[in-house]
Amino acid sequence: MGVKALPSSAYGRFAALCGVVSAVGVLGVVGAALVVPVPADAAASTLAAAAQQSGRYFGTAVAGGKLGDQAYTTIANREFDMITAENEMKIDATEPNRGQFNFSAGDRIYNWAVQNGKRVRGHTLAWHSQQPDWMRSLSGSSLRQAMINHINGVVGHYRGKIYAWDVVNEAYADGNSGGRRDSNLQQTGNDWIEVAFRTARAADPSAKLCYNDYNIDNWNWAKTQGVYNMVRDFKQRGVPIDCVGLQSHFNGNSPYNSNYRTTIQSFAALGVDVQITELDIQGGSATTYANVVNDCLAVPRCTGITVWGVRDSDSWLGESASALLFDRNGNKKAAYNSVLNALNNADPDPSPSPTVTPTSDPGGAGQIRGAASGRCVDVPNSSTADGTQLQLWDCHSNPNQQWAYTSAQEFRVLGGKCLDAAGTGNGAKVQIYSCWGGDNQKWRVNSDDSIVNVQSGLCLDAANNGTGNGTQLQVYSCWGGNNQKWTWNRG
Ligand code: G3I
Repeated sequence: MGVKALPSSAYGRFAALCGVVSAVGVLGVVGAALVVPVPADAAASTLAAAAQQSGRYFGTAVAGGKLGDQAYTTIANREFDMITAENEMKIDATEPNRGQFNFSAGDRIYNWAVQNGKRVRGHTLAWHSQQPDWMRSLSGSSLRQAMINHINGVVGHYRGKIYAWDVVNEAYADGNSGGRRDSNLQQTGNDWIEVAFRTARAADPSAKLCYNDYNIDNWNWAKTQGVYNMVRDFKQRGVPIDCVGLQSHFNGNSPYNSNYRTTIQSFAALGVDVQITELDIQGGSATTYANVVNDCLAVPRCTGITVWGVRDSDSWLGESASALLFDRNGNKKAAYNSVLNALNNADPDPSPSPTVTPTSDPGGAGQIRGAASGRCVDVPNSSTADGTQLQLWDCHSNPNQQWAYTSAQEFRVLGGKCLDAAGTGNGAKVQIYSCWGGDNQKWRVNSDDSIVNVQSGLCLDAANNGTGNGTQLQVYSCWGGNNQKWTWNRG
C-alpha cells in the first residue's frame, strides 16, 4: 500500500470505501495536507488513464496509412486519448490546389479518433515546410492572403472540433540568433505570426491556439528565448495565444537538459498552457522519458504529452532510433513502464505553494474578503440565476456572502450554487452556476492568499484593481497583487 495525495478521480472510490457518503462528509482536516493511503492497485494501466488522474492527456501522432493495421490501432486506441495527424492536416494535404480544400485524409483520422472517444490536436496551419508547390511559388501580399485563406478554410472545416491548433509551426531560426527563420512567410512581414493567430481565433474561438517548435526545450538556448519573448509580447498586446507546443525531439545534438522544467514553468508563467507535442527520444532512455513526464507533471499548466508515433517502426526517425514507447511488435519498452509509473505517481494537484486544506465541515461557511478592498465576494441581490457575475460588496453576514469550501474544492453558496469561472482566459467572468463538478468550479486556496481556478490556473481577481461596491470579479493571470488576495473566514 502506497501513500500519496488523493487524486480527485479517486476520491469517490475512496470515499465509498470508507463509508463517507457525501461530498460534504467528514474528511476535512484544517491546517494539514490531505494525505491518505491509496491501494497500490489503484494505479492506472494505460498511459491515457494514468495521465487523466492529474487532468492531463497522453497522445500520439497517427499516420492515416496505418489505420488499417490492427496491431497499430489496437495500441493507439488502448493507450492514448489525444490524437495528432502526423501529416494529414498539413498545408499540402488540406489545400493541394489553391482554393481547393481536401479533408479526406484529415477527416479519416479525425473520425477514427472521435469514434474512439479521443480528442484531436490540429497540426499545422502556417509553416515554411510541406507547403504545396502553388504556395511555395507565392510571395508578398498574395502569400499573406493565401495563408489567411488557408487558415480560414481548415479551421473553419474543423470549427468546434479541435482541442488545440498548432497555428504556427517552426517559425524561429536554429542557432544563436534568437530570431525568426528566413522563410517565405517571414518575408511577408514580421506580423505574419500574429495575423495567423488572430485569423485562427476568429475562425474557431473554442480551439486553443498554440505556437509549436523544436529546439525550444533548453531554457538556455537563444531559440527558446526568442520564442519566449514573442509569447510574452503577444500576451502583453492581447494577441490571442493560448499555448506553446514544445515538440521535444531529443537526440544527441539536442539532448534533454534538466532545465526543461524551467522552460515549461517559464512559458506557463506567461499565462499560456504548455503541451509537449511531438516527444521522441533517440535511444529511448527510460530515465529521460521519466524526467520529461515528471517535468510536465510539476507544472499545473503543462496539460498533456504527445509522443510522435506509436511503435519504433512507425517513427519518422526509423526503427533503429528506438525513440518511442513500443517496439515493432507492439511490446511495451522500458521507457513505456517508466512513463506509466511517473504518470501514476503524479501529485494530482501540484500547487506553487501550500494550500489550505478543503474542509467539508458543513457549518464552515464564511466570507471571502478581498485584501485590497476589505469587501467581500457577494452574489448581487442574492440571485440564484446561473451566470450571475459576482461582485465586491460591504461584508455582512447574509447568506449571499457565505461560502462553504468543500472537499471537492468548490466554493458553495445559496444551496447548490458554485463559484464558477465562465472561461479560461484573462477577464473571464466569475459567476455563480449550479454545481456540476467541473474543473472551472474548483479552486485552490493558497498560502499566499491567492485563490486559483483549477481549470485555467488563473487567479480570482477584482477587475481593474477595483475596491468599491459593485466591482466585478473575474479570473486573471496571477501576479501577486492585493486585488488577487483573499481571506476566507470560516464561521
Ligand atoms: O507518402 C509518401 C509516399 O507515397 C512516398 O513514396 C514517400 C517517398 O519519400 O514519401 C511519403 O511521404 C512522406 C510522408 O512523411 C509520409 O511518410 C514524405 O516524403 C515525408 O517528407 C513525410 O515526412 C514527415 C515530415 O514531418 C515532413 O516534414 C514525417 O512523416 C512527419 O513525422 C514529420 O513530422 C514533423 C512535424 O510535422 C513537425 N515537427 C517535426 C516532425 C518531424 O520531422
